Amino acid sequence: MFCKVNGMGLNGLNAYPVDVEIEISRGIERFDIVGLADAAVKESRERIKSAFRSSKIRFPSASVIINLAPADVKKSGSFNDLPIAAAVMQAAGEIPPAPDDCAFIGELSLGGEVRGVNGVLPMTITAKNHGIKTLFVPKENAYEASVVSGIDVFGIDTLDRLRQFLNGAVRLEKMPPYVPKAAPASDGLDFADVRGQPFAKKALEVAACGGHNVIMIGSPGSGKSMLAKRIPSILPAMTFEESIETTNIYSIAGMVNKDAPLITSRPFRSPHHTVSTAGLTGGGGIPRPGEISLAHNGLLFLDELAEFPRLTLEVLRQPIEDKKVSISRASGTVTYPCSVMLVAAMNPCPCGYYGHPTKKCVCSKKQVSQYLSKISGPLLDRFDLHIEIAPVEYQSLASQKKEEPSSMIRERVQRAREIQNERYRGTGINCNAALTPDILREVCVMTDGARELLGEVFDRLGLSARAYDKILKVARTVADMAGSREIDRAHISQAVRYRTLDRKFWVNE
Ligand SMILES: Nc1ncnc2c1ncn2[C@@H]1O[C@H](COP(=O)(O)OP(=O)(O)OP(=O)(O)O)[C@@H](O)[C@H]1O
Ligand SMILES: [Mg+2]
Repeated sequence: MFCKVNGMGLNGLNAYPVDVEIEISRGIERFDIVGLADAAVKESRERIKSAFRSSKIRFPSASVIINLAPADVKKSGSFNDLPIAAAVMQAAGEIPPAPDDCAFIGELSLGGEVRGVNGVLPMTITAKNHGIKTLFVPKENAYEASVVSGIDVFGIDTLDRLRQFLNGAVRLEKMPPYVPKAAPASDGLDFADVRGQPFAKKALEVAACGGHNVIMIGSPGSGKSMLAKRIPSILPAMTFEESIETTNIYSIAGMVNKDAPLITSRPFRSPHHTVSTAGLTGGGGIPRPGEISLAHNGLLFLDELAEFPRLTLEVLRQPIEDKKVSISRASGTVTYPCSVMLVAAMNPCPCGYYGHPTKKCVCSKKQVSQYLSKISGPLLDRFDLHIEIAPVEYQSLASQKKEEPSSMIRERVQRAREIQNERYRGTGINCNAALTPDILREVCVMTDGARELLGEVFDRLGLSARAYDKILKVARTVADMAGSREIDRAHISQAVRYRTLDRKFWVNE
């Protein structure tokens, strides 16, 4: 007796259909799984047999061979327990043959319960794209799978319930269409809480408008962490595609919010400086996405940047540039996306007061340069804006003046992003920060005055070619915020102000 049931496979974010084939024949009693199955899949045998016993379903006393096709792709994970169990039930005549456009995902417990698994969202999307119309998933994951429209999802809690349902003995409701919940933007943190600091706020608005990476330097208590935490509240709204991309990563990592599975506000990840390299960029035996991928389409905040081990920071350089990170393992390579806005904060020296207007720094020159040299030139280059956060003045702190709320800043950001979306349509570029050198010259048209000023600044500050490009990119953003096609003198002048820090602190750069 031969039959086939649809299952799914998963490699990193890439899901693919798996045919679970079963052959039952008379002969010595055995239960084997072939088809490049890893240890977790091989262990399925024990879980399934026990689940059958506990659910009082007869397990065929015959030779049972399961083949997971395509046989040349390594299968891992426990989510094929359910399709294998369905195939056994079908071959043993416990259930009628499942239709061709029906698939199963789920892990079984020894007691016959269907346990939740990771990666249900990317598997559901792939199932739908391969013509699956009905998908059985663990009850725990049903809400997450319902995010995908155009496929009927049933949440299953026990193997016995699945059997009864497929026999028509019980009714199960399919998951209703998903209605996204409006998530509060960035936990109620608002720029209105930050008193004064007009320069820093403007700089962060520019960064949000153009998707630029920012590094903030300032003394302890100047409000760097406070400002960074409020950036998500001014970032443009996520598109549905971005929401799905980010939720896919959380699904793989098993971090989907059970009550609101679809991520609709940009993630903010702030790993501590003791984070391991694998924790930051991804890794582990079963390669898990790292913090940088969990921040995909959102913000990665590295607070106390100089405290991170240098090696960890250097590993970040390439993913930041490429917007994806590849993790190689014996079982193959997985790639996770990591398109993030990188925001970093640090003190200028070990005591924190180098360059402070009133407090005296007690560090030696050598200590200061050693501290700053933890950030290598190439890493520093990843930041388009370098800003100094001056301590907030007493007048600002004590003032009764109402500060501008994030919602108003966000409207301006959204407008500037729309201008960029329009300009870069079809180029694969999504914001000014991602401009490539060939397009940069084309879109950064300067007035004569702007060209003259940039030339002066270039000579006076001894800028590198790289810094020149960065100033142009930031000036493009400033011009977009002003709704101007051309970059004029004032736009260049504002952009240059966000590049002077490396001259003050990293004088030798
Ligand atoms: N502009 C401001 N408006 C209102 N409160 C402020 C402002 N700046 C700082 N604060 C207050 O000071 C506290 C400390 O700020 P924050 O932790 O952001 O400083 P920091 O620059 O990150 O310091 P460190 O270098 O020690 O990490 C904030 O929690 C906030 O209460
Ligand atoms: Mg801080």
